[in-house]
Amino acid sequence: MEVILAKSAGFCFGVKRAVDKVYEQIEGASGHPIYTYGPIIHNEEVVKDLEKRGVSVIRDEQQLRSLDQGTIIIRSHGVSKQIYQIIEKSNLSCVDATCPFVKRIHKIVERESRLGRPIIVIGNQGHPEVEGITGWAEGPVMVAESETEAEVIANNLSGFGCIVSQTTFNYNKFKDLVEIFKKKGYNGNVVNTICNATEERQIEAGRIATEVDAMIVIGDRHSSNTCKLFEICSKKCADTYFIQTLEDLHMELPITTALIGITAGASTPNNIIEEVQNYVRINF
Ligand code: F3S
Repeated sequence: MEVILAKSAGFCFGVKRAVDKVYEQIEGASGHPIYTYGPIIHNEEVVKDLEKRGVSVIRDEQQLRSLDQGTIIIRSHGVSKQIYQIIEKSNLSCVDATCPFVKRIHKIVERESRLGRPIIVIGNQGHPEVEGITGWAEGPVMVAESETEAEVIANNLSGFGCIVSQTTFNYNKFKDLVEIFKKKGYNGNVVNTICNATEERQIEAGRIATEVDAMIVIGDRHSSNTCKLFEICSKKCADTYFIQTLEDLHMELPITTALIGITAGASTPNNIIEEVQNYVRINF
């Protein structure tokens, strides 16, 4: 079977960098405990594999405070300044795998809030990346996820401030929310900090889905970006399959099928993508 594998399938640059750092730590560990602050990626298979290799997941600040030795790895989403301070004061060593694009937002927020500007983060309330970003403000900071929230915040601003965005926020929605602020008299800074890795993956998946007879989307069922890829591909190709691993692949394809497309969500490891690709090439 002929296969088109999306170039952007799987880990983005920041996630790959973070996962690589965890495996480097495992190799170099001389028996001391390794922790990640939150699951390193949204993928059950990878988190289970890491657990087997002795990497535990720290869920919150309280758990972090209870540790007295080992290495803490900060994932690509980043964390608040306070988390770094807790680690510094403890006996723990820190491996910072915050994606450089997220780190840039932390620096903007810290700098702008020191200049007295209120910070507005356009992003999803409660998302770990957003929580990390707000934790770098040294003054007022607000999160706007919806039009209503943007209106309420804009009504209480005196026209200046600094707007940034969550890296994975939808660009059109970002523009709409910024427009609401502007209509209400906001004339402060607007920094578009959206990362285009997600959008590129979606555009490529959609393009491949229009060219092939069947499409396979690989990723965790709970990963929202994988579900989105599945939705995009299903609209363009009726024979679209959503699988977590090769074991889920039970395709019944029409005899005329000649070309299969494959893409994968941002937290799907390369070995799973390779395995599926090889299987499809040989067995169909
Ligand atoms: Fe990935 Fe970093 Fe962009 S984690 S989605 S490359 S902001």
